[in-house]
Amino acid sequence: MRQFNDVAELRAALRAWRAAGERVALVPTMGNIHEGHLRLIDAARAHGAQRVVASVFVNPTQFDRPDDFARYPRTLAQDAQALHGRGVDALFAPPVEAMYPDGLDLGAFVEPTHSAQSLEGEFRPGHFRGMATVVIKLLNLVQPDCAIFGEKDYQQLAVVRAVVRELLLPVQIIGVPTVREADGLALSSRNQYLTPAERDLAPRLFEALQTAAGEGAEPLAPWAQIEAHHVDRLEALGFRVEYFRFRNAQLAPPAPGDCRRVVLAAAWLGKARLIDNQPFVVSPGQDDRG
Ligand code: PAF
Repeated sequence: MRQFNDVAELRAALRAWRAAGERVALVPTMGNIHEGHLRLIDAARAHGAQRVVASVFVNPTQFDRPDDFARYPRTLAQDAQALHGRGVDALFAPPVEAMYPDGLDLGAFVEPTHSAQSLEGEFRPGHFRGMATVVIKLLNLVQPDCAIFGEKDYQQLAVVRAVVRELLLPVQIIGVPTVREADGLALSSRNQYLTPAERDLAPRLFEALQTAAGEGAEPLAPWAQIEAHHVDRLEALGFRVEYFRFRNAQLAPPAPGDCRRVVLAAAWLGKARLIDNQPFVVSPGQDDRG
């Protein structure tokens, strides 16, 4: 595995691979690599990538809270080992100045619209602008055939797909199922902020989503009551819930006739903000009462 901090050097390596006709995949990450990230690399290979570029960049413009950015775990040496072990060809770990040469008072940015307005967009102002801006920079730089994202960040994946479609970028965006601990907790770098007692409680969020998905798939499901019920139960357990909502697969409020749906939640447990989701299917023809 070669490690690059410099944009020009990465470009030179990419030119050589492209000249040899090799299929290139990009796996963008913020580092603190865990099994969830490593499955993205496996998925890149499964989709025929001959060269896998993983980026590790804690992107300052997508953090809505300075304390979150300051304490985000930075573990580049261990990350490099783990990525190398999983067969990554190039690790791109740029300094902030390489990604933002004119500083953080940006001269241009990518502003996702409809897909970014609700849910995370409501609670993390500016997050999707920063995320989309850095993802488009990385896609421009690497010009991969495909780019791989985890489905845990369901809305992030939807935003990336929407931006790539809108900007006519010639890249295939691939989503990879969430990797979970044995008790159901979705793997996340922020799980390490949980105390042992909170860690025991944390899987209850995914349990609630699974239960809600089952309830929501019933004919005539009363969506709003189900949402409110799960918010109350999670709050009684000690979560501080930001949202717990049913959406269709495109993240619009579900309408009769939308078969593919998802229930998504964000909740604080102590100092950790957890997000998770559970997609599900409603049989065609079932009515619902929103
Ligand atoms: O999901 C993440 O880790 C980040 O949002 C991403 C896609 C690497 C952009 O910084």
